[in-house]
Amino acid sequence: MNVIDAIATRYSCRKYTSEPVSREDLEALGLAGVQAPSSRGNAPWKIVIVSNPDIITDLSDSALRVMVRHEPSAAKWIDSLGTNLFYDAPVVILFAARHTWDYTSEQLDIGLAVENIALAATGLGLGSVICGFVTQAFRDIKSTDGARLYDLVGLPREYEIAVGMAVGHPAEPGTPHTPDLSAVTYL
Ligand SMILES: Cc1cc2nc3c(=O)[nH]c(=O)nc-3n(C[C@H](O)[C@H](O)[C@H](O)COP(=O)(O)O)c2cc1C
Repeated sequence: MNVIDAIATRYSCRKYTSEPVSREDLEALGLAGVQAPSSRGNAPWKIVIVSNPDIITDLSDSALRVMVRHEPSAAKWIDSLGTNLFYDAPVVILFAARHTWDYTSEQLDIGLAVENIALAATGLGLGSVICGFVTQAFRDIKSTDGARLYDLVGLPREYEIAVGMAVGHPAEPGTPHTPDLSAVTYL
């Protein structure tokens, strides 16, 4: 698939089969992530690719416990889905960034890695959806649970979880959103 087709056909996939994603595909996704550009080449990221179902369940349950307290309506919405936070996808990717010394570009840098992986997943015939809610599980690093999760996913404390992504084989075809071309001007 060429890159223009990958951009045009990517969509947030929220229904997955239980089929595992091959190690080869996971490695292709990891490579796509670290091939992203970053400010000054700082590469301020760590990308944790999780296919261990126990860890995925733990991440989902932990985030939901925090959301029930801080974002009850979102927690209720997730509950109504009948899946975990990651739509029961077989793979969850965590994107974490460390603060860089120059200026605050790491969120932008991480976004580029995220989109690289989303497009690579599309190219491999996989579905993906960015999952911002998972950050809730890590939001209080000083809490017992936040600290436990950092150790669980093997992340040094100076890395902040920026976002997550669910990846798997789509259970049904999906439709990309209608792009708003009015946001683009040509001078
Ligand atoms: C930073 C960020 C966080 C997101 N978090 C979630 C999430 O927690 N759950 C979810 O279902 N979708 C999430 N999304 C997906 C958006 O809802 C989706 O990208 C948007 O509606 C456009 O649809 P599309 O991806 O199909 O083009 C997130 C997207 C971004 C960029």
